[in-house]
Amino acid sequence: MTSNYHPIGVFDSGYGGLTVLKEFVNQLPEYDFVYLGDNARTPYGTRSFDVVYEYTLEAVKRLFDEGCHLVVLACNTASAKALRSIQQRDLPLIAPHKRVLGVIRPSVEEVAGISKNGHVGVLATSGTVASDSYPIELEKWSGGRVRQTTQEACPMWVPIVENNVMNTPGADYFIQQNLEALFQKDPLIDSLILGCTHYPLLIDSIRKFIPQEGVRVIEQGKIVTQKLQNYLLRHPEIDENCSKTSTRKFLTTEGVHFFEALAAQFLGYPIKATKIEL
Ligand code: DGL
Repeated sequence: MTSNYHPIGVFDSGYGGLTVLKEFVNQLPEYDFVYLGDNARTPYGTRSFDVVYEYTLEAVKRLFDEGCHLVVLACNTASAKALRSIQQRDLPLIAPHKRVLGVIRPSVEEVAGISKNGHVGVLATSGTVASDSYPIELEKWSGGRVRQTTQEACPMWVPIVENNVMNTPGADYFIQQNLEALFQKDPLIDSLILGCTHYPLLIDSIRKFIPQEGVRVIEQGKIVTQKLQNYLLRHPEIDENCSKTSTRKFLTTEGVHFFEALAAQFLGYPIKATKIEL
């Protein structure tokens, strides 16, 4: 690739970020994208702050080496545990003109305008739940409209996706259990944030097991895409450093064959991947 190649980097611990990439590609087809899935070290959700930060920083640096000026952490766990340190501590030292964005703030802004009664549920990894990022950010950014945030950690859901056992009785068992537990804690929840980018891949089962009618489910792909479009409009100095020749590149830290097969299934078109080490 030439030095004019400056794709937008999209990072996730595994396959989940593909639910975000898919919307990016639909809505911003002219941009170049490079996706990096750290499939060899997934899941991040059960790992400590230090480890998630270390792994995420490695991935961001690798995406900068690919030519990215802008990287989106399409992973709530990395956004919750690593984004702020990378933005405040690392970027000024390693790449002051580059930008790294996350997925939590866009979701928070969206749900604040959707919930009618101010009762919000968050389904996320154990790490995201333990970070309390959603309750803290909702308190800060919802202008008082979100009165109660109730979280439920779903540690089995990422392995269900990574191992391609969605739509099985085993998967349904865990999904039903977590949803029932969440709504038992707050039966008034009217809006549900899928606070992990893997979860939209389980959407059919999730909808099946929401124990009451009329609950709005917030998936992040579309929301994060709208916010990215908006960000690029507001920051022409970043936008002009994003090349626009419609290429897509896929990097994974695991074997390529499984990645190519599953990514093609999720995206709806065949892809070629390259194995890398971080
Ligand atoms: N997709 C990641 C997220 O949004 C999954 C994290 C994991 O690897 O556990 O949180």
